[in-house]
Amino acid sequence: MHPELRSRLLAACGPGHLLDDPDLRASYETDWTRRFTGPAAFVARPPDTAGVAAVVAACREFGVPLVPQGGNTGLVGGSIPRAGEAVLSLRRLDRIEDFDPVAGEVTAGAGVTLQALQEFVRPHGWDVGVDLASRASATIGGMVATNAGGVRVIRYGPMRHQVIGIEAVLADGAILARLPGLLKDNSGYDLPGLLAGSEGTLAVVTRVRLRLIPARPARAVALLGLPSLAAALELLRAVRRQAPGLEAAEVFFPEGLELVQRHAGLPPPFPRPHACYLLVECAGAHDPAPALAAALESAADPDAALLAVSRPERDRLWAYRERHTEAISAEGIPHKLDVTLPAARLGDFESLVRARLAETSPHVRPVLFGHAGDGNLHVNILGADPDDESPDDAVLRLVASLGGSISAEHGIGIAKKRWLNLTRSPADIQAMRAIKRALDPAGILNPGVIFDLEPPPVVSSTPPVRGA
Ligand code: MLT
Ligand code: ZN
Repeated sequence: MHPELRSRLLAACGPGHLLDDPDLRASYETDWTRRFTGPAAFVARPPDTAGVAAVVAACREFGVPLVPQGGNTGLVGGSIPRAGEAVLSLRRLDRIEDFDPVAGEVTAGAGVTLQALQEFVRPHGWDVGVDLASRASATIGGMVATNAGGVRVIRYGPMRHQVIGIEAVLADGAILARLPGLLKDNSGYDLPGLLAGSEGTLAVVTRVRLRLIPARPARAVALLGLPSLAAALELLRAVRRQAPGLEAAEVFFPEGLELVQRHAGLPPPFPRPHACYLLVECAGAHDPAPALAAALESAADPDAALLAVSRPERDRLWAYRERHTEAISAEGIPHKLDVTLPAARLGDFESLVRARLAETSPHVRPVLFGHAGDGNLHVNILGADPDDESPDDAVLRLVASLGGSISAEHGIGIAKKRWLNLTRSPADIQAMRAIKRALDPAGILNPGVIFDLEPPPVVSSTPPVRGA
């Protein structure tokens, strides 16, 4: 590393927070899937926004590309160095500030974990609208940068919908400050909305102002065994109409349940197996259990229905769904495809995707689960070589042919950029490239993520003839 760059980075990060020893860098170089891994030139861990701005400015001057990283819980290779980039870790930006218990708003540093924020706001009667299984490690900055979804999108929307203000460092080191955030602000382009979901390619998110949701202490969870996904979706329609406060509607299948039972040591939930499992959670100010039980009564087989109200019982049912990611990972390194379908096509998709994979890649094992209420299934593929993209190709082309999206909530990263044009038009991609070029002309922020920048247009060396 150039000595001047080193001294500027050390000044920005402080002693002990510029890591270039391979052992210290290792945990920043591989993501949760273990499929995406690459050596970092170094890892910079600045303590605050000014430190982030100083790191970005120095790296831009010395031409060192940066991969911003939060809790490193991404699943599409978007926060991992690929060609010797440096990692810019935001984990030390972990302050929670300016909590407004009347308005239900809070400002969180990019490195605050979701769980820390939940534990901070819940005693005050508020909660965070997005929740997900990786809450102990996932950070608010990363969740905004990837527009994380999770298990409550059906009620509160994804992370972008929670953001009312943002602070971010632009590629030239300038600080964009849209804090503290106003509920109504129609004064030009919505920059927080643009940065949410930009996967670290446009700016580095340093602080976020979030709207909170009222904590809903009364909760009920039901787990049901059903003969098909179609039956689960039918039952879900009844729950939506009849049970107030539906907050989550999740599905999984026998192959995933078997892995969870084996790797997490859980007993079978029902006396006999079922083709599809639906988990629903309702929440409100008053006990939602009676209305939920009534909504399920007509359709559910009593031997394949469990209702839980107390926290430990609810957690016990949720474990069958939430422990899928780790159980799949314990079985091998999966290809993770996170897709959405139009609601009306979701039922067909499940059987079509299994048939398509059996035909094109008979050696792989699909493990499906996901957020049924959002039309979002996670197609995990075990048994494929990490570099063999043919199963991914088969699944994503099927999704596109059914009018879906190749990413519902995990983002594009590097895992899916090859297929971006399946569900984004040439005009979409051209507009996204134009925004990237405008905000990061030197291409130092997460290069190669979402899409590659085409070579810049050839500029004629002959000036245009006036009046011609
Ligand atoms: C989930 O829904 O549990 C997450 O998206 C993680 C995953 O897909 O493995
Ligand atoms: Zn998910």
